[in-house]
Amino acid sequence: MSFIVKKKISGKEYFYLRESKRVGGKVKAVTICYLGKTKKEAEEKKKEIEEGLKNKEVIQKDKMVEEKEQKELTIEDVASFCKRKGFIFRSSDIYGGFAGFWDYGPLGVELFNNVKKEWWNWFVESREDMEGIDCSIISHPRTWKASGHLTSFKDIAVVCRKCKKSTKIDVSEKGKVKCDCGGEYEEQGEFNLLFKTQVGALNAGDAYLRGETAQGMFMNFKQVMEASRQKLPFGIAQIGRCFRNEIAPRDFLFRSREFHIGEFEFFINPQETKCPLLDKEHLNVKLNLLDAETQEKGEEDLKLYTIGKMLKANKFGEWHAYWLAEQVMFFLDLGLDEDKIKVREHTKGELSHYSSATFDLDYLYPFGSKELAGNANRGQYDLTQHEKESKQKMEVFDSITNEKVIPRVIEPTFGMERVFLAVLVNSYYYDKKRDNIILKIPAKLAPYKAAVLPIIKKGEQGKIAKEVYDDIRKMFHCFWDEGGSIGRRYSRQDEIGTPMCITIDEQSLKDKTVTIRDRDTTRQVRVKIKELREVVRKVVEGESILKLGKEVKTRVK
Ligand code: GAP
Repeated sequence: MSFIVKKKISGKEYFYLRESKRVGGKVKAVTICYLGKTKKEAEEKKKEIEEGLKNKEVIQKDKMVEEKEQKELTIEDVASFCKRKGFIFRSSDIYGGFAGFWDYGPLGVELFNNVKKEWWNWFVESREDMEGIDCSIISHPRTWKASGHLTSFKDIAVVCRKCKKSTKIDVSEKGKVKCDCGGEYEEQGEFNLLFKTQVGALNAGDAYLRGETAQGMFMNFKQVMEASRQKLPFGIAQIGRCFRNEIAPRDFLFRSREFHIGEFEFFINPQETKCPLLDKEHLNVKLNLLDAETQEKGEEDLKLYTIGKMLKANKFGEWHAYWLAEQVMFFLDLGLDEDKIKVREHTKGELSHYSSATFDLDYLYPFGSKELAGNANRGQYDLTQHEKESKQKMEVFDSITNEKVIPRVIEPTFGMERVFLAVLVNSYYYDKKRDNIILKIPAKLAPYKAAVLPIIKKGEQGKIAKEVYDDIRKMFHCFWDEGGSIGRRYSRQDEIGTPMCITIDEQSLKDKTVTIRDRDTTRQVRVKIKELREVVRKVVEGESILKLGKEVKTRVK
């Protein structure tokens, strides 16, 4: 049975179609698709979906085919698609590549910029209590002594005695884990992940490329608070390149040696346990939790929790709960499938040297459910360490309690390449009927927002098409394609996720209208040229193309 559910994300309402089905003895509800932002829109779309597909069997059959095809997607398929379409290239490809390093191509840089823009907007621009910064990649070498990275930021290199594959394990996994093939590991030694470099010409000294952006936020904490006139609690955020000399880079972008972290340190009075921002919406955020106790028993069963239930179970405090909820909400807003997100609590033995409680947000990539983002309670660890090492006071005045304190810190962290990869995998869809890949990416993330495809490139039609293109691209990244059949041109845009294709035809000359084809349904509407910019804007904000013009019948889908 399918039904509509409403979700509130950051004050905005979103409607989804869900379906309940019996699995074993239990009834499970799964999300089928996003329906829109109003109840009316959602009801209309639900009706369309139910009418369009003749009966439940067809829905089931199509879903099974779709699931099968999605399951067969490998990370190698994704990498080769990214290369072919210009999203990601191997770094130094002409020299055979360089393990752990990647280059963004023309489409990749657009998609990545859009992902970063959404992150920055969600966590920085739309908030009063967050300040953004951008720090240097190389900082004083004592940074890494104080942070503990010089002594504790290590992995162990191992080689499997049976299949001879080399990989890395965490220090906490020493002697406890085996290779996937069942073979025992032979340890090759501990390696620090920080990249070392030399700074200066004469009397050059050792320095390190940053392994996380966090230290920039800790070292600048007092200056930022003062300059921006913030009060506790508040946060400092940045997105930037990080470097880790990974023992075994693998799974395409997932484990690289150079990548971007987007993270923020949220500073709170250590006595403050209440979070006034934690509301019903946060408490009701649902998640599949793999808790520490279950893992300690060697099991992997997920438990369905809400943030509210985790709080009641004393899994964490209110601020930690609030930020974990915000992270999940951000991922849902990017369109990630909630059933593919899992929250994994770190066991005591695997906690980083700076954390007293950590939760990973894992995403179901083609190679398994793996860490997409993290959320750690860093307490007062870093500020206290920098105070000791630099001999500079790190305490600040809390104007609410009238006391000087060293704040405690909650740190949500995101591997931005992993978000990029999750968005790609989540939207990569092979459409059997169209025999083509459709990148069903949310319009706000799409590299091109629209493509202009003139039916006839010369004469008056060509002139109007060029004017339309020149006008739209002043505001939106837009593609011009006059080469090949119209069907082929549509397919090329579907593959790279362009949400709308605009065509100019004979009727455009008569009534100054154009047709817009919707990527996901191939249906088309006709709109006035003078309204085009506004239509594109609405689509980028998430409105359905089909609601923005009069639907027209077409031969070419
Ligand atoms: N400041 C906290 C911190 O750095 P982390 O879990 O070590 O925490 C942050 O790294 C995020 O960076 C992770 O959640 C993961 O998404 C991403 N990440 C870590 N190592 C990575 C690698 N080698 N390649 C790509 N992303 C990585």
